Amino acid sequence: YDIPYPTNEPVKSYAPGSPERAELKAALKEMKSQEIDVPMYIGGEEVRTGNKIPMNPPYEHSHVLGHFHEGDSSHVERAIEASLNAREQWASLSWEQRASIFLKAADLLAGPYRAKINAATMLGQSKSAFQAEIDAACEFIDFLRFNVYFMQQIYADQPDSMPGVWNRMEYRPLEGFIFAITPFNFTAIAGNLPSAPAMMGNVAIWKPAYTQVYSANVIMEVFKEAGLPDGVINLIMVDGPEAGDVIFNHHDFAGLHFTGSTGVFRQLWKTIGQNIDKYKTYPRIVGETGGKDFIVAHPSANAKEVSTAIVRGGFEFQGQKCSAASRVYLPKSMWNEVKGYIEEDFKDIQMGSPEDFENFFNAVIDKRAFDKISKYIDDAKASDLVEVVVGGEYDDSKGYFIQPTVLLTQDPMYTTMVEEIFGPVVTVYLYNDENFEDTLTLVDETSPYALTGAIFSKDRYAADLATKKLVNAAGNFYINDKPTGAVVGQQPFGGARASGTNDKAGSMLNLLRWISPRTIKETQ
Ligand code: NAD
Ligand code: ALA
Repeated sequence: YDIPYPTNEPVKSYAPGSPERAELKAALKEMKSQEIDVPMYIGGEEVRTGNKIPMNPPYEHSHVLGHFHEGDSSHVERAIEASLNAREQWASLSWEQRASIFLKAADLLAGPYRAKINAATMLGQSKSAFQAEIDAACEFIDFLRFNVYFMQQIYADQPDSMPGVWNRMEYRPLEGFIFAITPFNFTAIAGNLPSAPAMMGNVAIWKPAYTQVYSANVIMEVFKEAGLPDGVINLIMVDGPEAGDVIFNHHDFAGLHFTGSTGVFRQLWKTIGQNIDKYKTYPRIVGETGGKDFIVAHPSANAKEVSTAIVRGGFEFQGQKCSAASRVYLPKSMWNEVKGYIEEDFKDIQMGSPEDFENFFNAVIDKRAFDKISKYIDDAKASDLVEVVVGGEYDDSKGYFIQPTVLLTQDPMYTTMVEEIFGPVVTVYLYNDENFEDTLTLVDETSPYALTGAIFSKDRYAADLATKKLVNAAGNFYINDKPTGAVVGQQPFGGARASGTNDKAGSMLNLLRWISPRTIKETQ
C-alpha cells in the first residue's frame, strides 16, 4: 500500500518541567481567560441564533468558558440541505484526496492543536491532562490515521477478472446523509463519528452532547484548517428529539452513527423502524451503547494486580468511560488482601480541578450525572444488602465531585451489580473459592450488557474456561489486564447485546458500514 500501517501516536507524559506541560498550562490559562462564542457550522457558515447556552467547567460552576448558540428544527433542515448540496462533489473526490484532508487533521492535532484540544477537553469535560492526552490527542489522531489506512485497504479490494471480462467494485458512499450523535465522555469518539463516514465519501450532520460542545468547536476548527470542504460535516446544537424529528422523517436519511446510552439508541432504532417506508435506502444503524463491565478473579490471581485493575479500570476518567469496570467478582479468600491494597491506593488519590496536574480524580460531567450517581450511593448507604468500603461522599458546592466509591455486596443482583451507573462506583461481590465456574455463569447471565470484561488468573485452564464461558459477555475481553484502555489498531473496540452493534470503532468493520458497493462487469 502507498500509505504504510500507522504507528500509534505516542502518549506524552506532561511530567513536571517538560515542554509539553508548559505548553498545556499556557493553553489552559489563555483559554480560561476568554469567554468564547461558539456558533453552529452549517454548510461552512457560522450560524448564531442568539439562543445562548453557557458552558462551565464541571469542576468550577462559578467560571464561564463561554456559550454556544442553540438552534431549532429550521437549522436541522438547513444542515440537511447543506449536506446534500455538498454530497456530489465530495463523493466525486478520489479516496486519496479525502485521505489527505484527514491525515492533515491528524497532523494538526498531533502538533499545533494538541495543547488546544487537550485544554478544551480538560476545561469542558473535566479530564486530567493524562486523560485528555489519551482521548482527545492520541485516540483521535489514531482514529484518523488508522481509518485512512483501512479505507485504502477497502478500496484496493477488487474482484477477479477473466479474459474479455473486466470486473470491478466501486465503493460508493451511502445515498443520502449520515446523522452522527455523540456522547460527552470522549472527544475522540465525538470526532470519529462524523469523520469516519465522511472519509468514505459521505456527508454528515453532527449533533454533539451539549457538555462536549467546547471541544467540538476545536474539532471543527481543525477540520476546516485541514481543508474539509463546506457542508461535508455540519455541526448543529439542537435538542436531540427535536433534531431527530426532522432527520428521521427525511427521505434522504441514510445512516445513524451513534454513541451514547442504550435507552436512547433503542428509542432511535424504533423511530427509524417506524419511518422505514419514508426512506430512499435502508439506513445503516451503527451504535455503541452502555456497559456493565466486569472483572473476575480466579483464586490463583495476583491480588495486587487485581486491586490495580479495580482502581485504574474503575476510577480513571471518573468512571465515566463506557469500558470502566463496575462489577467485580472476587474469591472470598482474596478479599482482605485486595481491600488492603485499595485502601492504600486511596490514600494517594487526590480529587480536584484538572488544572492541578496532581489530581488523579476530577469532577463528573454535569448535574444529571451527579444526581444519578449520588442516588446510587445514597441507596447503597440505606441498604442492608451492601456496604460502603471506601469513598461514598459527594459535594457539588463548587463542582460535581463524587469520591471514588467501592461497595461490597453478597447479592449478585443488587442494583449496582447489574445497572449501568456511568460513574465512579465499583461493586464487589465475593464468591466461595470453589464456585469459580458458577460465578462465570453469573457474570454472563446477570447483566444485559456485553462491552468489556477481564479475567485475572495465573491458572491457564481457569483463564481458558473463563474465555470460553464468557464468549458472548464482552466485545473486548482482557486476560490479566483491566478492561479499559483499548488502543486503536491494537484492540478494536465495541460491544454486543445491549452494548451496541459491535462494528468496532476505528476498524475496517466500521468503515464498511458507510459504503454501498456497486459491482461493475464490463465485457470487452
Ligand atoms: P446519552 O444517551 O444521554 O446521550 C448521547 C447523545 O444522544 C447526546 O448527544 C444526546 O444529546 C443525544 N440524545 C439523547 N436523547 C436523544 C434523542 N431522543 N434523540 C436524539 N439524540 C438524543 O449518553 P451520554 O450521557 O452522553 O453518554 C454516556 C453513555 O454513552 C453511557 O451509556 C455510555 O456507556 C455510552 N458510551 C458508550 C460507548 C461505547 O463505545 N460503547 C462509548 C462512550 C459512551
Ligand atoms: N478506548 C477506550 C477504552 O477502551 C474507550 O477504554
